[in-house]
Amino acid sequence: ESRQRTKLLELHELATAWFEEQLRSPEGALAREYLSGRGLKPDEIQKFRIGYAPDSFHALRERLQSVADQETLRLSGLFSFKEQEDGKPGPLYSRFRKRVSFPIANESGRVIAFTARALEAGEKAGPKYLNSPETPLYSKGNVLFNLDKARQAIRETGFAVLVEGQMDCISVYLAGVKNVIATSGTAFTEAQVRLLSRYATRMIVNFDPDTAGANAAEKSIALLTEEGFEVRVVTLEGGLDPDRYIREHGTQAYMTALRAAKRHSDYLIERARQLFPPTTADAKVKALNFLLPHIRRMPNRITRDEFAADAAQK
Ligand code: GTP
Ligand code: MN
Ligand code: MN
Ligand code: MN
Ligand code: MN
Repeated sequence: ESRQRTKLLELHELATAWFEEQLRSPEGALAREYLSGRGLKPDEIQKFRIGYAPDSFHALRERLQSVADQETLRLSGLFSFKEQEDGKPGPLYSRFRKRVSFPIANESGRVIAFTARALEAGEKAGPKYLNSPETPLYSKGNVLFNLDKARQAIRETGFAVLVEGQMDCISVYLAGVKNVIATSGTAFTEAQVRLLSRYATRMIVNFDPDTAGANAAEKSIALLTEEGFEVRVVTLEGGLDPDRYIREHGTQAYMTALRAAKRHSDYLIERARQLFPPTTADAKVKALNFLLPHIRRMPNRITRDEFAADAAQK
């Protein structure tokens, strides 16, 4: 088992280095242009080991096939294949093609998976982000993007900033907020909360200011408060996600927004008032029904009572 694990880690390390090399090669010109268009400088790209998965079905396999047997290559998740008529896997081909690659590391900084972004939008390019599947190394619900780089700062400050996207996470980190991690757009899980509870007791949730982000924020707040985290929530002006907010308004403005983060109870009451403007008895009932599960969940009697009183009053 552990030999297989070692082999899979080695494959991921080699793939990371190879993607980095491809980004620097002539083939990587478009990707370099894309990344510089998003404001990333070469040393920042290097820091996160961002690379380029070229538009080739076989180049990565050729790079890796002397290192591991077919079965191990298949298990790595770096390749796709079609099941043949006899039920066996067909030839392996690169899962990530013509995409910017972001390595996903475990807590100790070893690369265990990738997420890869299409350079262009549109159906032909497929989904915007493509992730590694579940593998013996990688279970997406157990991993938080950037925890390896953030964990020391999370410990020191006692809190973490939780964002949705890789690019959000990278921009926030580069703005100097080093205790930032990303859920990577997938549902925040209990396992991730437990992972975080080893480092911090407080959390600032800073998801995208859109419906998807608001829904994800509510679920994350629920999981975190249930585990006893003290949660604050940032809402950024102008419908910008953290990455774009920092690009447009600068680091100082982002810091100000972080400092203005609302207590989760105030944020949720505000949200309830938006969803159900409490002008009629019916709307007030709906608003309270929205808030009740959140109020009930508070493990501490005093904060629970205070939340309930605020909700009733507002
Ligand atoms: P950029 O456009 O690169 O700035 O991405 P974003 O982070 O702003 O994307 P978005 O807000 O749409 O999604 C947040 C996160 O969800 C991303 O960083 C990804 O981790 C994930 N995500 C976004 N689109 C997809 C997709 O098409 N497939 C999958 N599996 N994940 C996605
Ligand atoms: Mn999206
Ligand atoms: Mn979004
Ligand atoms: Mn974005
Ligand atoms: Mn976003």
